[in-house]
Amino acid sequence: MNPILSVKNVNYSYHTQDGETPALSNISFDIMPGSFTCIVGPSGCGKSTLLSLISGLLAPDEGEIYIKGSPAADSAMHIGYMLQKDSLFEWRSVYKNVLLGLETRKSCTPEKKELVNQMLDTYGLGNFKNVKPSQLSGGMRQRAAIIRTLALEPDILLLDEPFSALDYQTRLEVSDDIYRILKEQDKTAILVTHDISEAIAMGDRVIVLSARPGHINKIIDINFDSLKEDRTPFSARSSPEFPDYFNMIWKELVQ
Ligand SMILES: Nc1ncnc2c1ncn2[C@@H]1O[C@H](COP(=O)(O)OP(=O)(O)OP(=O)(O)O)[C@@H](O)[C@H]1O
Ligand SMILES: [Mg+2]
Repeated sequence: MNPILSVKNVNYSYHTQDGETPALSNISFDIMPGSFTCIVGPSGCGKSTLLSLISGLLAPDEGEIYIKGSPAADSAMHIGYMLQKDSLFEWRSVYKNVLLGLETRKSCTPEKKELVNQMLDTYGLGNFKNVKPSQLSGGMRQRAAIIRTLALEPDILLLDEPFSALDYQTRLEVSDDIYRILKEQDKTAILVTHDISEAIAMGDRVIVLSARPGHINKIIDINFDSLKEDRTPFSARSSPEFPDYFNMIWKELVQ
């Protein structure tokens, strides 16, 4: 199987009036289709910059990024981006919010509407189509936001701390929901998080970045052999392998 995404020897610096800020240094990794990769690293180490480079919003100073074999800059249509803030618009109903991306791309066909309706029903928002976002719980809002992103049928989802604004209990529930949705739809996901436990609970692999300029300290494969088919982010947290992964990543982060 070929990687869906290849990042090769990427360097990136921001240039402002105050000078140059090196953000990322010699980043290389491959992502396989259907995998779930988490990225952790100290604040300001370049995690969001890396997602912007993958999405084609920024171009590397050096190195290359390929999505399905084509340069990332030409592949924006393959990418879905979900941020910490769900940015649902209060003046639109939940249904109208979820259709927004399709309307913007002028691809709001009856087939796409049917897909959106199915997802709303499947993911527990079927009865909330006509309400305003403020009438939803934090978890429901995140589900609406991911349905809006999935409506565009992206091959790769980039998730930049999408749960960090939620309270702890909701965060656990929503990470379970989102994990299930992404696995059911066989999507490739890259999740940036500050939370080591969340990275282990959700990831097939965790990429640990160093302090700025971020370089890769270690890539750790996560396997929960004790869980097999029953792996969910929630069950992973209480598995016997979990504390060892936590210690391994912690050691990489504080070195
Ligand atoms: N538009 C910009 N102009 C100049 N410098 C920037 C810009 N955006 C980010 N930076 C700097 O680049 C570095 C990496 O920023 P980035 O936002 O990618 O970090 P991060 O790992 O996502 O941080 P956090 O964990 O706080 O979200 C930081 O030092 C930041 O100050
Ligand atoms: Mg960030």
